[in-house]
This record gives sequence, structure tokens and C-alpha cells, in this order.
Amino acid sequence: MNYQEFKKTVELIQKQDEWREKTINLIASENVLSRTVRNYAGTDFAHRYAEGHPGERYYRGTAFIDDIENRLKACMKMIFQCNHGEVRPISGTNANEAVFSKLVNREDVVMANSTPGGGHISHHRIGALGKFTKNIIDIPMSPDGYHMDVEKTIYLIKTAKPKMIVLGKSLFLFPEPIAEIREACEKTKTTIMYDAAHVLGLIAGGRFQDPLREGAFLMTGSTHKTFFGSQRGVVLSNMDNDTWRKIDRGAFPGSSSNHHLHTLAQLALATNEMMEFGARYAEDVINNAKVLAAALDKQGFDVEAREFGYTETHQVAVNVSKQGGGEKVSRVLETNDIILNMNMLPHEALSRHDHPDGIRIGVQEMTRFGMGPAEMEYIAVLMKECVMDNREIRPEVHAFRGKYTDVKYSFDDRQ
Ligand SMILES: Cc1ncc(COP(=O)(O)O)c(C=O)c1O
Repeated sequence: MNYQEFKKTVELIQKQDEWREKTINLIASENVLSRTVRNYAGTDFAHRYAEGHPGERYYRGTAFIDDIENRLKACMKMIFQCNHGEVRPISGTNANEAVFSKLVNREDVVMANSTPGGGHISHHRIGALGKFTKNIIDIPMSPDGYHMDVEKTIYLIKTAKPKMIVLGKSLFLFPEPIAEIREACEKTKTTIMYDAAHVLGLIAGGRFQDPLREGAFLMTGSTHKTFFGSQRGVVLSNMDNDTWRKIDRGAFPGSSSNHHLHTLAQLALATNEMMEFGARYAEDVINNAKVLAAALDKQGFDVEAREFGYTETHQVAVNVSKQGGGEKVSRVLETNDIILNMNMLPHEALSRHDHPDGIRIGVQEMTRFGMGPAEMEYIAVLMKECVMDNREIRPEVHAFRGKYTDVKYSFDDRQ
């Protein structure tokens, strides 16, 4: 019986692998590991512990991971030009919690992007931030829904004197105006935290804003959305040493014990790929997102933020209320092996979260498989035929995707 279960799980793992090779994945928060980095998932590090810091571990037998962790930290600091890098959080949420746990006290006021405004659940009352304070104020947005209302935000900073303002979003099309709110934050001693979960790879590639230079006190992020993997989190900053020691204790022992050494080693490899190929990748991703947005618009979809050029990131937002809403459209596409999220749009009330008007598209994974502008145009055609013409497009999806199986922007061809 137990062996039957074991075999069933093996079968499901294999099915997932086979099926995913045939899908067009447009989930904006995912990416693929290169073949080489993926192959290092099952090393001896997957069995080991290394609590603490390199050279000061609470465990023995850590010499090699110490070296890898030190090198990874040095690379992260080089890429993001900062003095401090914490690489032990095992996810972006874990990184956020490490920060909130040390910089936010009970009843402190914190400003963050609302969920319909694109904010992440970890900035929310019911998420990581909510464990430390419930006094969370939404950052005011301009009527288009995709930009901060700077004037109103500065007014709120001056009057509510928040301890922290959390910038960065899950539905993230345009840069945050950090420089414009910096002075107000300095006067009220409001810490600017920038959550770069989605855009870490674009920042690494130098093709998006540079939060630490523009005025953010610290930046957190996931390492596997526009960054090349593995699934982990980081905290980066130029802050003073005393405050950094607090954040450090927030990461360990505050919000983790062991830090999953096999994925740490994979992240070190992926970071080297990012250093080599990140600039070209980030440029190609943003260009592909713009091309896909314009192509979807041409096919008759209501693409959001047209007046601003649709997007400056890897993401595209589309209002599909005329096609039955995000829930329905994402399901129809899934049946045809195009995978993406339904998503709330800025004009929607929170109660609409399970039946939102929107879908969110990310091009970072298909770009990594080598797709360019022509492929983006074709994806828009496929989506139109599926969603608007009710055509079964699965065979075309498989045939098309079958041409893009190697992960580019990697050292795979040198291995
Ligand atoms: C803005 C933002 N922050 C944090 C996270 C959490 O990242 P993770 O899934 O690595 O915990 C996400 C996830 O999508 C996100 O969009």
C-alpha cells in the first residue's frame, strides 16, 4: 500500500514535468532554473544543517557551504551595490517577516500598497506585517490605479508619521516614485522599505529603478521571479551596522532555523548566471512585455495602462470583464495549456478577489526559453482565438512550445 502511494507520487511528479514542457507559462511570479542549476537540486546539501553565519555555525561540517554562502553574499552585494546582504531567508515573505519583526513595533503606523492597488499579502493585516501591527494605511493611488498619488501620500506621511512605508507590489507595472517621497520620509523618520520580489532580476540587470540609490533604506526580494532562482529571499541594504545586526537576527533565529542549503547553493549558481546575462535578459523581458501588451490590445483585449505604454516591467494587466472575468478566462486558457493568474485590478473592491475582472501576465519565463517579439505576437493571437473565438488551441500551444525547450541566458551550453 505504501509503495503504491510512493509510485503514485512518482507518477504525478513525472506527469507534472512532462506536462509543463508543453505549456505556455505566463504566471508572473515564476521562472525556470537553467538545466545545470536544476541538476544541483539533489546534492548532499539537501540533507544538511548550517544555522548561524559562515565561520560561526552552530553545526560542524559546514566548510563548503560557508564558502558558497560567503561568495553568494559578495555577489549579491556587488550586483546591488550595497554593504549588507542577507541570503538566508527561504522566501520573499520570510525576508519581509525578518525585517518587519525587527523594525515594526506593536501599534506602529505602516503605509503599504493595498491589495487591489497591487500590494502583496505579506504587507497586509492578515499577512506577515499584520503580526506586528494592525495600523496599516493604504498608499493613495492616482485615478489610473497604477501610480502612487504622490501629493496625497506625502500629506499622509506628514500627518500619520508612519514608522515605515512599504513600496513594491505584486501587480507591478511602473516604478515607485521613491525619490519624490524621500524628503518627507526623512523629516518624519519613516523607513522606506522596497519589496523587489517581482522586479529583483530587472533591477539586477539595470533596466528598472535602482531603489537603494533612489532612497530606499532597505530592499527585500524573492530570488525566483525575474531573478534566475532558486526559490528563496534576500534582504539588501546600506544601513548602519547596528540596525543591520537586528535584521540579521530577524532572519535567524527570528524567522528561520536551517536555511535549506541545497537551494542556497543553487541560488549561488543562478546569481552567477544573472551577473553574466542579467542586463540582456532584463532588456528582452521588458521589451517582450511591451510587445505582448500592444499585440493583445491589437487583438481586441482591454489592456490596462495603455496611456502609459502598458508596462515597464515583465507584467501585463488585462481587464477581461467583457470576456467573462479573470476566473473564467484563466480557466479556459488553462484548459488549453496557457497558464496565468486571475488578478484584481486597481478599481476593484477587495470582496471581488475570487472573481476579479483581471488577468496578470508575466513574460519572464517564456523569455528565458528564448522567445522574442514574434513569439509574443503569436501568443496574443492564440489567446484571442481561445478566449474570444472559443477555439481549441491546445495542439497549436504544444507544437509552438515544443520549439522552445532550452533555458537561455545560462551556462548550460558550456557544461
Ligand atoms: C510584492 C511581493 N512580495 C513578496 C512576495 C512573496 O514572495 P515569496 O513567494 O517568495 O514568499 C510576493 C510573491 O509573489 C510579492 O509579489
